[in-house]
Amino acid sequence: MECSWKTVLLLVCASLGVQYTAIRSLRDSLPEHCQGSHRCQGSQGKEYRWKSPCYDNPLPAETSTTTARKHILLLAQTRSGSSFTGQLFNQHPGIFYVFEPLYHVQQAFTNSSSRLRRALDSRALLGAYRDLLLNLFTCDLSFLENYIRPEPQDHLTGSFFRRGSSHALCTPPVCQEGSEEIQGGQPDETWCPKKCRALNLTLASLACQARSHVAIKTVRIPEVGDLRTLSEDPRLDLRIIHLVRDPRAILASRMMAFSDQFRAWRIWNATGRQPRYVDLGQITRTCRDIDNSVETALQRPTWLRGRYLMVRYEDLAQNPEGKAREIYRFLGLDMDSRVLTWITQNTNTSAPPASEWNYKYSTTRDSRNTAHSWRLRLGFNIVRTVQALCNSTFSLLGYKLVNSVAELRNMTNSLVEIV
Ligand SMILES: *[C@@H]1O[C@H](CO)[C@@H](O)[C@H](O)[C@H]1NC(C)=O
Ligand SMILES: *[C@@H]1O[C@H](CO)[C@@H](O)[C@H](O)[C@H]1NC(C)=O
Ligand SMILES: *[C@@H]1O[C@H](CO)[C@@H](O)[C@H](O)[C@H]1NC(C)=O
Ligand SMILES: *[C@@H]1O[C@H](CO)[C@@H](O)[C@H](O)[C@H]1NC(C)=O
Ligand SMILES: *[C@@H]1O[C@H](CO)[C@@H](O)[C@H](O)[C@H]1NC(C)=O
Ligand SMILES: *[C@@H]1O[C@H](CO)[C@@H](O)[C@H](O)[C@H]1NC(C)=O
Repeated sequence: MECSWKTVLLLVCASLGVQYTAIRSLRDSLPEHCQGSHRCQGSQGKEYRWKSPCYDNPLPAETSTTTARKHILLLAQTRSGSSFTGQLFNQHPGIFYVFEPLYHVQQAFTNSSSRLRRALDSRALLGAYRDLLLNLFTCDLSFLENYIRPEPQDHLTGSFFRRGSSHALCTPPVCQEGSEEIQGGQPDETWCPKKCRALNLTLASLACQARSHVAIKTVRIPEVGDLRTLSEDPRLDLRIIHLVRDPRAILASRMMAFSDQFRAWRIWNATGRQPRYVDLGQITRTCRDIDNSVETALQRPTWLRGRYLMVRYEDLAQNPEGKAREIYRFLGLDMDSRVLTWITQNTNTSAPPASEWNYKYSTTRDSRNTAHSWRLRLGFNIVRTVQALCNSTFSLLGYKLVNSVAELRNMTNSLVEIV
C-alpha cells in the first residue's frame, strides 16, 4: 500500500511539474497541498495524509506486490531527443535497454506490399507492436526472429537494428569483445556490430533475465492510450516515460536529419515560400498524438495511475541531472553512478549550437545549447505554420508562440514556460 500511494502521488505531482495548462487545470481541481513535486518526497506518513484529497481510488493492491522488475517504456516521437533520454537507462548496469525494436516489425511488413505500407500510418501494426513489447519485456527475444530480415539462423543475426545503442548487447556475456571499449564510457555505434560478430538471441535473452529491469525506447507507438493493454497486463509493471519536445524543434531536427524526405520543407525554408506539395500531415499527426496522450493522462484513468511521467526534453536538456533524478524517483529505482558520469561527460560541450545537425543520431551533442538552436535555423514562415497546425500542443505543453522574426531569434527570451 505504501508503495502504491507513493506512485499515485508521483503521478499527480510529476504531472504538475511539467504540464503548463495541465498545471492550471489540475490546480483548479486539487486541494493546495497536493501541488508541487517537492511536497511529494516526504516520509510515508506524510504521503498517507495526502492521499485522500489527491485521489479517490488508490492503485489496486496487487500492483505494489508484483515483482520488483520494472518494465520501462520510453515513448517518444522521432527527433524529440529520445536517443539522449534513452541513455539515462542504457547506462544503468541493472537495466536491459533496447533501442527501437519495433523497427523490425515495420520493416517486415513494409516490404510485403504497398497497401500495407500505406496502412502503416494507421494502426494496422499496433497488435504486433504490443506483442513484441510484451515478449521483450519478459526477456523473450526469440519472438523478434519472426521479424528480423534476413531471418536469423540458429538464433544468430547480424541485422539487429541499432545493436550498438544497447550496452547489454555489446558487453559480456553477449559480446566477449566488448569489455574494453565500453569501459571507455562513450557509446560508439559503429564498433559494436563490427567487433561483436553475430548476435546470439538466446544469449541476449539470458542477459536480459540477468538484469533487474527492462527499458525499451520506441517512436512507433502513436499515443499513450495504445498502451492500455500492456499497462493492465498482470505480467508487467509498466512505467511509461512520455518524452515530448517543442514541435517546431522536432520539425527542424527532422528537416536536417531526413533531408530527402523533407526536400519540400527545405525549399520552403530557403525561399520563404511554401511549395504547394509540402506535406503538412506528418507534423500534424505528431502533434495530434502528443495531444491525445497528454489528454489521456490528464483524465487520470485507473490503468495509468502511478505509471505515467511526462518529460519535456527542454527541461531535461536544461537540467539533465535533476531531471534524471526525478525520472528515477518516479521509477522507484536508484540512479547508478554511471548514469551521472554519462550525463557529466555528455552535457558539457563547447561545440557551437549548430553541431546537433552534423550527427543524425548523435546523443553526445544534445545539451542546453542544442535544445534551442532550431530558433536560429527555421524560417519564420514555417514557424508560423507549425504554430497554427499545432496550437493546442503548444498550450498543453507550455511552449510560447512567437509573433515576429525578432521574437523568434532573440535567444534571451525563453520559449519554454517554467512550471
Ligand atoms: C524487400 O524486397 C526487395 C525486393 O522485393 C528485396 O530485394 C529486399 O531484400 C527485401 N528486403 C527485406 C528486408 O526483406
Ligand atoms: C547461443 O547461446 C546459447 C546460450 O549460451 C548457446 O547454448 C548456443 O550454443 C549459442 N548458439 C550459437 C550458434 O553459438
Ligand atoms: C564544461 O567544460 C569546460 C571546459 O572543458 C569547463 O571549464 C567547465 O567547468 C565545464 N562545466 C561543467 C558544468 O562541468
Ligand atoms: C533554413 O535556412 C537557413 C538559411 O536561410 C539555414 O541556415 C538553415 O540551416 C535552414 N534550416 C533548415 C532546418 O534546413
Ligand atoms: C487553434 O487554432 C484553431 C484555428 O485557428 C482555433 O479554432 C482553435 O481554437 C485554436 N486552439 C487553441 C487551443 O488555441
Ligand atoms: C532581446 O530581448 C530582450 C528582452 O526582452 C531585450 O532586452 C533585447 O533588447 C532583445 N534583443 C534584441 C537584439 O532585440
